[in-house]
Amino acid sequence: MTDVIDGNAVAADVRAGLEASIDALADAGVTPGLATVLMSDDPASRTYVSMKQRDCEEVGIDGVHVEIAPDAPAEDLYDAIDDLNADPAIHGVLVQMPVPDHVDTRRVLRSVDPAKDVDGFHPENVGRLVAGHARFKPCTPHGVQKLLESVDVDPEGRDVAIVGRSSIVGKPLANLLIQKRTGGNATVTVCHSRTRDLAAKTRGADVVVAAVGVPQLIDGSMLKEGAVVIDVGVNRVDADTERGYELVGDVDFESAREVASAITPVPGGVGPMTRAMLLYNTVKAASEQED
Ligand code: GUN
Repeated sequence: MTDVIDGNAVAADVRAGLEASIDALADAGVTPGLATVLMSDDPASRTYVSMKQRDCEEVGIDGVHVEIAPDAPAEDLYDAIDDLNADPAIHGVLVQMPVPDHVDTRRVLRSVDPAKDVDGFHPENVGRLVAGHARFKPCTPHGVQKLLESVDVDPEGRDVAIVGRSSIVGKPLANLLIQKRTGGNATVTVCHSRTRDLAAKTRGADVVVAAVGVPQLIDGSMLKEGAVVIDVGVNRVDADTERGYELVGDVDFESAREVASAITPVPGGVGPMTRAMLLYNTVKAASEQED
């Protein structure tokens, strides 16, 4: 029987695990504070940010939302980040990506105080992660690790194929999984658009993580019998539904589940975990800043 991994349930466990730390902070008179910053008209980005705010409310984190018009000068965003960095009630700052073209993304990432960088995107935090001393594990890769843990898959010694080399998922996940200290010791292959024989790479893997943004790229014929499949993709494809679209992953779920021993659905797999690990990082940031 293929195990369909319930990301909502694993995320609920992560949130429950934060209660003790949030209570301890409350005893010390501290409420963790997370600021989300949105400079985009993209409906998906707006949905993600509002879900993050709702999560904060549910677990007792003070959520602050800052909205910058997408056509405003880039300086408005840089100034907003400076203000949040200086605010002692804010322990975590998240700028929803992507930002408009006239904004310098690298400057944005550099501008967030590394101690408040709950995304783990600041170059200092990327460096720490690569060196094996992660301060904040980036939320989606950390969520993937937790999902593997939930089905008792220890990456040690296993062959893992990551499809996609983004700075948000593929690259940090590869770093986490190869290093002993960050919960890995796996043998990792990172595949991308120039990989010659993708199916050969995925078929050789015990664990396949799809994070490439191509709807249903990975199907059952590309998997080893019994592989564990984690689908990070969230793609809106036109469909005859009320909303006019449906969400599909980077994996063809129906054919993959015939072959896999465990697989995450889309939606309800990785998405809730990304949000749960953001809460985790925010509580960590608050505990460290108030220490
Ligand atoms: N856009 C897509 N994923 C993410 C994420 O994890 N963090 C931020 N800040 N923006 C994103």
